[in-house]
Amino acid sequence: MDKTKLGAGSYLLPMPVVLVGANVNDRPNFLTIAYVGIVSHTPAMIEIALRKNRFSSAGIKKNQTFSVNAASTALVDATDYCGIYSGEKVDKSQVFEVFYGELQTAPMIAESPLNLECRLAKVLDLGGSHEVFIGEIVEAYSSEEYLSDGRPDLQKIQPIVYDGSSTSYWTLGGKLARAFHVGKDYKP
Ligand SMILES: Cc1cc2nc3c(=O)[nH]c(=O)nc-3n(C[C@H](O)[C@H](O)[C@H](O)COP(=O)(O)O)c2cc1C
Repeated sequence: MDKTKLGAGSYLLPMPVVLVGANVNDRPNFLTIAYVGIVSHTPAMIEIALRKNRFSSAGIKKNQTFSVNAASTALVDATDYCGIYSGEKVDKSQVFEVFYGELQTAPMIAESPLNLECRLAKVLDLGGSHEVFIGEIVEAYSSEEYLSDGRPDLQKIQPIVYDGSSTSYWTLGGKLARAFHVGKDYKP
């Protein structure tokens, strides 16, 4: 085996890209993140990791709510914008058309193909650079144009992923094989 040590780094390739929404000082704010993942199926729960003292963090803690909005190829410029400029300096409330769901304080992006409305369940400080916000997904929203048989359709959503190695956004190449199926008759 001829492996090169890369050092301890957050090498997860690729990472999803989402826009997190929060009301900060009673105004909608959105930031782009790549540190995001599902942590429970039932109830449906998601984690987002935000660098400590992010502008958005105060709003999430105050309202106990946030949203996770899919980033797509059509939204790549706006997504990058929300990842460059802080709500502390610029007003990001007009970047997207905003709507609210049942929690009433988690701003969501109308132009995004998939929105997850979350109630804050826990904040974890692991002693490192980021704080982990765990949210219970109380509702998910999409539009008919992004659905097939009532379920979100990846081909229609056209999500983007983040490659930390090339610091670039990538699109997905297409379906490869059926999960829970293609390995059934595999002979190790
Ligand atoms: C591709 C990309 C991924 C990012 N991932 C994260 C992340 O996972 N966590 C984080 O705290 N910031 C991340 N950022 C940086 C924030 O989006 C950025 O600092 C933003 O301006 C913060 O917004 P706010 O100050 O309005 O809260 C990322 C930025 C980009 C462009």
